[in-house]
Amino acid sequence: MAVQFHLIKTDPSSRARRGRLYTRHGSVETPVFMPVGTQASVKTMSPHELLDIGVEMILSNTYHLFLRPGHDLIREAGGLHRFMAWSKSVLTDSGGFQVFSLSPLRRISEEGVTFRSHLSGETFFLSPERATEVQNALGADVIMAFDECPPYPAERSYVEESLERTLRWARRCQAAHRRPEDQGLFGIVQGGMEFDLRRHAVESLAEMDFPGYAVGGLSVGEPKEKMYDVLEYTTELLPVDKPRYLMGVGAPEDLIEGVWRGVDMFDCVLPTRIARNGTVWTRRGKLVVRNGAYARDFQPLDPECSCYTCRHFTRAYIRHLLKADEILGLRLTTYHNLYFLVHLMQDIRRAIEEDRFAEFRTVFYRTFEIRKS
Ligand code: GUN
Ligand code: ZN
Repeated sequence: MAVQFHLIKTDPSSRARRGRLYTRHGSVETPVFMPVGTQASVKTMSPHELLDIGVEMILSNTYHLFLRPGHDLIREAGGLHRFMAWSKSVLTDSGGFQVFSLSPLRRISEEGVTFRSHLSGETFFLSPERATEVQNALGADVIMAFDECPPYPAERSYVEESLERTLRWARRCQAAHRRPEDQGLFGIVQGGMEFDLRRHAVESLAEMDFPGYAVGGLSVGEPKEKMYDVLEYTTELLPVDKPRYLMGVGAPEDLIEGVWRGVDMFDCVLPTRIARNGTVWTRRGKLVVRNGAYARDFQPLDPECSCYTCRHFTRAYIRHLLKADEILGLRLTTYHNLYFLVHLMQDIRRAIEEDRFAEFRTVFYRTFEIRKS
């Protein structure tokens, strides 16, 4: 079996779950946050540093690796794990979402998506069969069905038509999958903000019996309350014995709310992306260390953090590095943000184990200031 999920316990006061995902590359404690390594690299971090942070699983992208360096080359290198020297678990997204968000021109048909590369302008084609073949070549432990993530807002009629196609595509991915013994193919629930379409998606996918289910099509510009409502409605319908993965969501408060509603896996570019813009998370909320206010601040980024960055460096020094375009600045902020999220998830897991997740959530909101930006 490629991936197996073991549900360890359920929180008595919420739908939060404590579990473990087993892959060919080890076990992953859930709920888990997966840092994003789009181009077979978590930007600025070495695998050694990721291990040091406590990362157990990362995400990479079919779209990018298909375009460059190509899946044949990565297969020749011995697969994605060997190519990038990462020995723990990997999940690849199918490329559908990236085609829609990055490609300047694309045409969808029943067969698949024709698109222009954002790199070369060349025309390419991805379909359920092709995306699955590419992911089989890359060799990630978890691979994703090829889907369409409709924009927000979208006409209900379009969301419905798109969902039906995505469901047909999910079957085609299953039929094309050549490595079910060592790669788990997850289905993706779409259906926009329409509750009945979400229900239809869950029922159809559950019938296909995937080893895990993702909730896609969220965090696409809708208000947070809407996202939480659609998510809650969806997770309540999903099979309890399979892992649930909320795609592209990773702000600290969204991890808490996602876990609260029964999500087991998350990924997001946010920690690594904002770090490179000079923004970090602390127990008190966001801190823009690039700001002049920190020019003479000789405290760590987060005085309550015990990461390598916070044990050795000051806000003033990191700000200086960022202002001077020194690569070390990007590395130190990235390290801290990943450590912050990975350890937030560790704290969440412990709180669930000890039946105090509701209290943990309350305390989190009391200290973590959420500013609307
Ligand atoms: N990443 C964030 N949202 C989505 C989605 O809806 N589908 C896929 N494939 N990837 C995503
Ligand atoms: Zn730190």
